[in-house]
Amino acid sequence: MKVIICKNYEEVAKKAASLVIKEIKSNPHLNIGLATGSSPLGLYKNLIEAYQNHEVSFNDVTSYNLDEYIGIDRSHPQSYYSFMFENLFKHIDIKPENIHLPNNDLAQIDHIADDYNQILHEHILDLQILGIGSNGHIGFNEPGTPLESETFIVTLDEQTRKDNSRFFKNLDEVPKYAITMGIKNIMYSKKIILIASGKEKAKAIHEMIKGKITTKFPASILQLHPDCTIILDMESASHLS
Ligand code: F6R
Repeated sequence: MKVIICKNYEEVAKKAASLVIKEIKSNPHLNIGLATGSSPLGLYKNLIEAYQNHEVSFNDVTSYNLDEYIGIDRSHPQSYYSFMFENLFKHIDIKPENIHLPNNDLAQIDHIADDYNQILHEHILDLQILGIGSNGHIGFNEPGTPLESETFIVTLDEQTRKDNSRFFKNLDEVPKYAITMGIKNIMYSKKIILIASGKEKAKAIHEMIKGKITTKFPASILQLHPDCTIILDMESASHLS
């Protein structure tokens, strides 16, 4: 694991964006895995700015999102589909047909995980962007998820639902289920960049980097990835030394 510690979240976002832009410049047909949530927001802001300043084009980039809630429609403002369009896709030149998010249609529940997994098998990811849950989840691979897991429907941890309730009116509105890439899908990406900030993530960051490799703390498995960069602010890195 390569660990980069930045002064603050603004610097984290800039650093992550500079690495992503470098990857797109060296391979304009990049297959990139994307995350939602607070952590990548600054990265996406910087990527939009770089596109507007003609520093980078997403015209040939293909994206694959990590996960999506089940139980809310794609048109819901808190769906990851809405999140990605609001915070990135509608501002850049990525082709709509190159955007992939897991389908969350309840009518197709018996095959949506296999369908997405098939797509991932056909397109190896060059780079995966990740955040980390306070319980150590990556994607929605909650504690206890087997290493060998591929795209599946997950029952969200109560901790995850509490953490994410800040985006909803109340806890009851937070979906109980999601569809997520599995740990194996994530580990297959050629490169990984994980972003974290804030003191609420300090314990999880310590566990991920210095802790024992265990499925009880899914992010610790990233210690086994050959090209994984962790970009942190000082607060999230505060338990490391
Ligand atoms: C989001 C995802 C999650 C988040 C994690 C951290 O697509 O897969 O693993 O990255 O829950 O969320 P934030 O960044 O909101 O703290």
